[in-house]
Amino acid sequence: MNAVVRPHRLLHTLGEADLDAVLAIEQLAYEFPWTRGNFLDSLHAGYLMQVLLTPAHGRVGYFIALAGVDELHLLNLSVAPPCQGQGHARYMLDALCELARQRCAAQLWLEVRISNTRARELYERYGFCNVGVRRAYYPAHGCQREDAVVMSLQMAKATHGPG
Ligand SMILES: CC(C)(COP(=O)(O)OP(=O)(O)OC[C@H]1O[C@@H](n2cnc3c(N)ncnc32)[C@H](O)[C@@H]1OP(=O)(O)O)[C@@H](O)C(=O)NCCC(=O)NCCS
Repeated sequence: MNAVVRPHRLLHTLGEADLDAVLAIEQLAYEFPWTRGNFLDSLHAGYLMQVLLTPAHGRVGYFIALAGVDELHLLNLSVAPPCQGQGHARYMLDALCELARQRCAAQLWLEVRISNTRARELYERYGFCNVGVRRAYYPAHGCQREDAVVMSLQMAKATHGPG
């Protein structure tokens, strides 16, 4: 197993054996969750996928990123609702930055719902900057669509080291 051990938390490569637990978190965390097919497609495409475990709660979160030539695109970052507010997302962002550095990536990219103030605050406090808006990017209720804020973190300016 490709595992990184740190006190009270362990990140390992997300595999098919994790999917039931990951889907359960996904369905609690989002109004419009990814499907099992989305996760399987990501696995088969070879995306960077890691799942976070704690001794007390087992699988508590995960992230999925697409590696480009000199950048990483964060596609999904989620923490189980009962385990939020304990630094798990920040810890996974540290791990993502570590992966980016190993790959000599110049920057990280992500999209986030404009209404997702909690996630936007997380990313802003971590050092990401707003760099644009993708109109009607996400599904929303009542046949509506919601804009995405595009955010970027320049690795040379990233000050957060692995936790
Ligand atoms: C957004 C999310 C990933 C944050 O995960 P988390 O583990 O709770 O975040 P952390 O505990 O690492 O907190 C890091 C930052 O998030 C913010 N945050 C955490 N808990 C918060 C709360 N209860 N209220 C407001 N902001 C909060 C803070 O800015 C915090 O910064 P700090 O470390 O400087 O205090 C989590 O809420 C989640 O999974 N939400 C649903 C899925 C989602 O929206 N994912 C993002 C898609 S782009």
